[in-house]
Amino acid sequence: MKTSDEFNLILTSQQKREIYQKCGLVFKRITTSVLSLVKLSLAACAFKSEVLPLVKNISIVKLILDRESMSAEQPFVITLELTSEQRELIKNTVNKDWLRVMFCPDEHDNIAYIEQWESDVSAKRVGDSFVILPQDFDYSPSPADKLIRLPHGDDKTKNTFGKGYHPTTQNMLCLMEKHLKAGGSVLDVGTGSGVLAVAAARLGAKSVLAIDVDANAVYSAQKSAELNGLEDVITTKIGTFDSVDGIYDAILANLFPKVIISLAQEFSGKLIPGGLLLISGVVSARALAIVPMLERAGFEHHESVSLQDWEGLVFYKKSL
Ligand SMILES: C[S@@+](CC[C@H](N)C(=O)[O-])C[C@H]1O[C@@H](n2cnc3c(N)ncnc32)[C@H](O)[C@@H]1O
Repeated sequence: MKTSDEFNLILTSQQKREIYQKCGLVFKRITTSVLSLVKLSLAACAFKSEVLPLVKNISIVKLILDRESMSAEQPFVITLELTSEQRELIKNTVNKDWLRVMFCPDEHDNIAYIEQWESDVSAKRVGDSFVILPQDFDYSPSPADKLIRLPHGDDKTKNTFGKGYHPTTQNMLCLMEKHLKAGGSVLDVGTGSGVLAVAAARLGAKSVLAIDVDANAVYSAQKSAELNGLEDVITTKIGTFDSVDGIYDAILANLFPKVIISLAQEFSGKLIPGGLLLISGVVSARALAIVPMLERAGFEHHESVSLQDWEGLVFYKKSL
């Protein structure tokens, strides 16, 4: 191998599952260069570490190896046990037998938000009143039910996140039932299937703007708005947060923490004083880091809920 070569640590299904459970991201491999791998191995040896930090930014190697100085705001690190093949591969490159590696998922940009219908699709009850169902599913609602019909059987919508199975969506829906007031304007950032946009409209939102960077998600959200007869309330738009105009009463953001942190100030700029910010997509291990960052951006932390290690967080923008 040349030092300029790319070094790919292909992950096993077990490792992929573990990473997904810890940070909610789908990784197929951890990539670095051979030169970085050599440098990182030398740095880790100097720290007498037992774990090889596969971290792109060498300046944070010290932070993550010097665990004494780790605080809540420092990088989120995942440690993986290596298989014998992976150990061998690393050994052949850096001449040292590492048993474990650490890496920071935040350094990687390939974030995949994917969720598919279970093979045995059915109606899924979430919170006190929401019932999420595929578009053509037969269901007799009780008077208190708030139905959310989502597109089904279409290639463009099949991978869109927000089918209602994931704890991040469920936390969001439960917090919306509790905190979202009827009659307000809502911005749904990262709408995915449009599940939260429909839920907001069912809770009486006067208007909902549902945005996403992914064209298939926006297509799904538009379909969901139509399936639920809510085209007059829900507007869909492709794009990032900076393409949004106006000020809202509430913002819903079920996003990976890296994105939440990068948007903290902008959330504040798009909310009325006292406005509601609901955050999801954060594993409990990371919630500690999110709270101070949003507080610094002008929010008051009001409540957190957790489900299977995933947290939903409630913030209100401080009034001046
Ligand atoms: C975890 S899914 C949430 C889907 C749905 N809102 C829910 O709660 O189930 C996150 C969505 O955010 C979108 N996304 C990621 N980064 C974004 C950004 N910077 N701006 C807008 N959308 C983004 C992704 O394409 C994905 O559809």
